[in-house]
Amino acid sequence: DNYVLSQIELHREYGGVYPHMAKREHIKNLPILLEKIIRNGEIEKIDAIAVTNGPGLSPALWVGVEEAKRLHLNYGIPIYPINHMEGHIYAALTTDLGNGKMRINFPSGSSTALLISGGHTELIHIPREMEYKKIGVTQDDAIGEAFDKVARMLGYDYPGGPEISKRAELGRKRNELIREVLRLPRPMLSSGDLNFSFSGLKTSVLTKIEKYEIESGEKELFCMEFENAVTDVLVKKVREAMYLYNTTNLIVGGGVSANNHIRISLEVLCAAQNKNLYLGDRKLSTDNALMIAIACFRRMQLEHTPISNINLLRADPNLSL
Ligand code: KG4
Ligand code: ZN
Repeated sequence: DNYVLSQIELHREYGGVYPHMAKREHIKNLPILLEKIIRNGEIEKIDAIAVTNGPGLSPALWVGVEEAKRLHLNYGIPIYPINHMEGHIYAALTTDLGNGKMRINFPSGSSTALLISGGHTELIHIPREMEYKKIGVTQDDAIGEAFDKVARMLGYDYPGGPEISKRAELGRKRNELIREVLRLPRPMLSSGDLNFSFSGLKTSVLTKIEKYEIESGEKELFCMEFENAVTDVLVKKVREAMYLYNTTNLIVGGGVSANNHIRISLEVLCAAQNKNLYLGDRKLSTDNALMIAIACFRRMQLEHTPISNINLLRADPNLSL
């Protein structure tokens, strides 16, 4: 069973995620969801507690960690600390079979993972399962953060990714060229490494909004241009990563992987390069607890052991894969 209580409406109202508000909401909501499980008599059926120990916002992470410890002490259930990014990877590898069952398909051969979310933009080399090497990272803003900030500049609600994407699709249908002055840079396209940068792009958007009057029809083209710019960079870096590490599979996870244009562009890339693409279900791409449970389940399948001393369990906002 998958229980979700979303804070998205609240974040929309306030135009973003504020750590202490997120913490307060978790403290309020987590017991409600757990109560549901306990009331349904399901607590005995639970083999393990999967808890995100990082990376993420420290106050929010601690709520989960403390709650996991409490459950462990009350019910003796073992705890598996799970990296949030590993959750995104396994979400992308999971197929919903539709009969209440899911299948995890870890591909054979080596993989490149592209993890794109509100807090992260990174490329990971996975030579074999559960072995991770970070090979590229954003030097400033995460890609989702760029979507959110640009959306706000254009007057759209949080989260900005879906808002921009919606307008960009309309822009694409217009079959028009955007004014030359509104063209955006493709940051780090030829940096010669696998890193990213999105803060310059954001500044560039702001400058153009301030300098050139962008009327509403043109806004759609501008959203398209922004989406094209970030996608061009992603596609180029992924292609280079897969070439450099000679990988067979591409795994794409994180909230931004719900983006239609990015999905299609990566499909085209993988088809052309003869690579296997693992994109996962859109529903599982934005943050959710199920992806953490799935990663935990996989670790149990692979006979990893739970944490032995729960006093050592801590939230680590900068936890790396
Ligand atoms: O993975 P996620 O749910 O949370 C983090 O771990 O950060 O990602 C959230 C991010 C937000 O920045 C949101 O704007 C972005 O994912 N996002 C999208 C789309 N849907 C969500 N960005 C672009 N296109 C989308 N369709
Ligand atoms: Zn995430």
